[in-house]
Amino acid sequence: MDSVVCHADGDLHNMRYALICKRRCVMRVLGLMVLALAATGSAAAENGAAVAAKYNCLACHAVDHKIVGPSYRDIAKKYRGQKGAEAVLMAKVRHGGGGVWGKIPMPPQQIGEADLRTIVRWVLAQ
Ligand code: HEC
Repeated sequence: MDSVVCHADGDLHNMRYALICKRRCVMRVLGLMVLALAATGSAAAENGAAVAAKYNCLACHAVDHKIVGPSYRDIAKKYRGQKGAEAVLMAKVRHGGGGVWGKIPMPPQQIGEADLRTIVRWVLAQ
């Protein structure tokens, strides 16, 4: 009978066992992928909130209600599915401006490209 090395436990098994082994390998890889996805998803979410707090965006914005500026949930709803929304909003935050949500303008925000992208992606995901 032929033998195979099982990736799941590293042992040598006969072919009858190979099928069980393969199934185990697949389950293990799938499990790891799910874990990895969950980890990156929540890391990005926490990051967005933390960066928004760091740059004082939360002085004027909350996720679920209007303060001086619109809630991040309303912003996400308005731009959902719109191509290029990320770039438009990044430019708006950087340069400031008003007229979209009311008469009060947003002052220009001093913020680096990477942090700005993180926040805007997080806002659009609310
Ligand atoms: C001093 C208050 C204030 C601060 C601080 C502030 N915003 Fe705003 N923000 C506003 C106002 C007011 C508006 C509405 C502007 C308008 O009507 O066009 C706005 C609008 C927005 C919009 C939607 C823009 C649009 O054209 O639809 C985004 C996105 C946004 N802010 C993100 C941020 C981020 C990110 C920060 C932090 C880096 C930030 N804001 C800090 C007041 C503020």
